[in-house]
Amino acid sequence: MEKRGSFASRFGVIAAMAGSAVGVGNIWKFPYMVGDNGGSAFIITYLLISLLITAPVLIAEMSLGRMGGQNVLGTFRTLAPKQKAWQGVGWLGLITAFVILSFYSVIAGWSLAFIKDSVIGSFAGKDVAQITADFNGFIASGWQPVAWAIFFLVLTCLIAGSGLQKGIERSSKLLMPLLAVLLIVLVVRSFFLSGFGESVNFLVKPDFSKITPNVMVAALGQSFFSLSVGMGTMLTYGSYVSKKESIVDVVTNVLIADVIIALLAGFAIFPAVFTFDINPTSGPDLVFLTLPSLFAQISGGQIMSILFFVLLFFAAITSAFSLLEVVVAYVTEELKLKRRAAVLVSFVGLAILATLCAMSQMPESALRLGSRNLFDTFDLVSSNVMLPLGGLLIVLFWAWKLPKKRVEEEITNNGTCSTKIFGVLYFLLRYIVPVALVIMFISLNS
Ligand code: PHE
Repeated sequence: MEKRGSFASRFGVIAAMAGSAVGVGNIWKFPYMVGDNGGSAFIITYLLISLLITAPVLIAEMSLGRMGGQNVLGTFRTLAPKQKAWQGVGWLGLITAFVILSFYSVIAGWSLAFIKDSVIGSFAGKDVAQITADFNGFIASGWQPVAWAIFFLVLTCLIAGSGLQKGIERSSKLLMPLLAVLLIVLVVRSFFLSGFGESVNFLVKPDFSKITPNVMVAALGQSFFSLSVGMGTMLTYGSYVSKKESIVDVVTNVLIADVIIALLAGFAIFPAVFTFDINPTSGPDLVFLTLPSLFAQISGGQIMSILFFVLLFFAAITSAFSLLEVVVAYVTEELKLKRRAAVLVSFVGLAILATLCAMSQMPESALRLGSRNLFDTFDLVSSNVMLPLGGLLIVLFWAWKLPKKRVEEEITNNGTCSTKIFGVLYFLLRYIVPVALVIMFISLNS
């Protein structure tokens, strides 16, 4: 078996984990969910849930990975040797990685296609209706979204295949700062649009009457998805983190980066939306249809559009590494393949699923589960069922199955850090988080 890798530096750990967290969820989903769910009231709910529920689960997940020092399945086997049932959490994580990465590659593929379109100027002079018609044609062709999704997977696999440090860590250290710079450029440009003031109102002034149980549920699903929690990506990355690192500090950094980038994405997008008096609730279309048509109307819009879709691509690929790594770690450690072979095997499976997801969006496609196509089903089921369920099981394992002493030693590095916060964290994870998750889980799916 190959020697197990580990991240080389603290910045590398944070870049890789923040790279996993910051993704399509921050740049595409978060802004449209804010638009759909009443602006800043949603944001406040989201922040509270991320701090009190998701971040503790992330800490638990990462610490399990570091305790086990293996892939998801191996970790549960080692930590609960006599209770095979817990390995089910590992299986759930593996399946979720496939499910998310397959629809994720389709969206990331769109961002690549939109980079190309922005570069050749094909949005110039077009309004939303024309851009929508073009996009529908693109989707209906079937082969185009499939080709872009596979191209995205090839890029992801090439980088991930060159190793944990040389591929994943190095490119995350490069792409994450670049992403921040691109986003800041976009926000600065948006600042000069006349709709900036109105979008600040929308994003900052809360209307608490908008916080309903549904909004809370949407915020929870989004928060889990955005922080990559509940399926073993953070567990797998945690297994590559040195025993000297403070898990609480790393997670704090990741949480701050994830939240700031989601908020900045809002400040980059909404000013254009308000400048042209567009309803902010245009849903999933916001980024791919509304935005290019707005960019087409402002000066410097073509460059903004290129930068925006490059940004989306960077965000997507660093998240895709972490999803792929769940599978690759499993294949190298449990099936004893070399890293490159493991990446290749995973690629084949993912390319098939991504193809099905992209094709399911063609009009009249038979690739449906119930009333939804495969793509929408994968998106919905992963955020609303698989991640909260995985998160709940991870928390129960951490807080109720493992002895308190064991988790305390892991979180505090044997009493040398995070000792004060441990008590609060343990209380949250043992009582508050499971109850909150069960309540939300029930209302989520009822
Ligand atoms: N966090 C990523 C995003 O916001 C998505 C993701 C989910 C990545 C789960 C890994 C695991 O887009």
